[in-house]
Amino acid sequence: MNQLFKRKSIIKLTAEIEKSDSGLKRSLNTGNLIALGIGAIIGAGLFVRTASAAANNAGPAVTIGFIIAGLGCLFAGLCYAEFASMIPVSGSAYTYSYATMGEFVAWIIGWDLVLEYALGAATVSIAWSEYLNKLLGYFNLQVPYEWSHSPFEVLKDSAGQVVSHGIMNLPALFILFLLTVLLIKGVKESSFVNGLIVITKVAIVILFIVLGWSFINPAHHIPFIPESSLYTDNQGIIHNFGGILGILGSAGVVFFAFIGFDAVSTAAQEAKNPKRDMPRGILGSLAICTLLYVLFAYVLTGVATVNDFRTVGKEASVAFAIQTYMTGYGWLAKLVTVSILAGFSSVILVMLYGQSRVFYSMSKDGLVPPVFSKIHPKYHTPYKSNILFFVFVGVFALFVPGDVVGDMTSIGTLFAFILVSAGIWVLRITNPELPRQFKTPFVPIVPILGIVVCGAMIYGLGWPNWIRLLIWMAIGLIVYFAYSKKRSKIRDE
Ligand code: ALA
Repeated sequence: MNQLFKRKSIIKLTAEIEKSDSGLKRSLNTGNLIALGIGAIIGAGLFVRTASAAANNAGPAVTIGFIIAGLGCLFAGLCYAEFASMIPVSGSAYTYSYATMGEFVAWIIGWDLVLEYALGAATVSIAWSEYLNKLLGYFNLQVPYEWSHSPFEVLKDSAGQVVSHGIMNLPALFILFLLTVLLIKGVKESSFVNGLIVITKVAIVILFIVLGWSFINPAHHIPFIPESSLYTDNQGIIHNFGGILGILGSAGVVFFAFIGFDAVSTAAQEAKNPKRDMPRGILGSLAICTLLYVLFAYVLTGVATVNDFRTVGKEASVAFAIQTYMTGYGWLAKLVTVSILAGFSSVILVMLYGQSRVFYSMSKDGLVPPVFSKIHPKYHTPYKSNILFFVFVGVFALFVPGDVVGDMTSIGTLFAFILVSAGIWVLRITNPELPRQFKTPFVPIVPILGIVVCGAMIYGLGWPNWIRLLIWMAIGLIVYFAYSKKRSKIRDE
């Protein structure tokens, strides 16, 4: 069989994973799975990207953007759940696709997941840096603008004069360093800590919605959908603002806020009753987050203005909106700032962990160099991989603006979702006999809707992002044909 389509045997996969995971226990119920999802989901997407999408793309209509992004995740999520339930091991989309669709698709997905996990971690670390400065501000301290921003960012005064240039984002690198050290030492978030963080995150979101509701200025919501125009941001990047294109663009930007719900499907092996609990876990965490996000975006864009989000409220936007407009709620701004710093850290940890796990599998399969599966003699973690990814993610965190890495994360993940949706449809035709614990309903309608809605968001993200995705995938193809294909372990089987 042509190597590109050669699949990894499920029996071998199960044996390998069982050896490394030494048998996962089936202990998670629907509630645990929903908590797992929410823990990985709520983060920079909501607390940073919402304001950015309102400023650059859609104004108050970012609320509609959240609904579109949620729908895209729902359709792709249903496909993801079937994919995960076909393979009797825990793993990522890379692992599942290697066993079902063959090496080439697996490579594309694995390579693409770097955008989701590594660049996702960079985006959240940049968001962490914004809120750290907010926190320091409460004590009249500050990391200077130059040392907390990329070289592509400038600070302008109210007259539009440039007063400062970014050099590098040191706080973002700092948090990545700290979490990489924890990862190397084998620290995994316990379900207790995850539970605590989930409760805190959900609590501050609900508090903001409830307390902020009475501070909504109806004038800020008019027009709800701005007329379409072009908007050039501080960095000189041109965005489609308002109208359908603006809404689709905002959906692509805030799609970031949903990334991580696929973490639920990676726990398929630990679910007590995957057939029932997986779809409930995925759909439950999606439904709760979508509802919270839509309300949150509605309140945020009602409290502060689009112009705020383009200027003084561009950073740490939620804390800014509370401080500036919600008189008497200074404590809430502080609570949000502190909680979200912890919340962001847990998201970064999950992403860095996910990245090292995907590359660990790819390295074991011979597709990336053995260094990515080199295990530390004492801590039993892939420490070299952690260090290499610290350097890779760190370069982006130091030198690239959050908007750019955030959009690259979105487009990369959207592309992976399209592949997964298409894969489910194809597999139903080519391999109807494979056992499936969970079946996506209404195939091919749901996969087609997944492809269309995710495709529309990719379209909305605009050509600079399409080109970035193409360049990344082109590099991936070169690496595959120049290195991976020749060294793949599956060749000898
Ligand atoms: N969904 C995660 C966040 O918003 C990645 O931070």
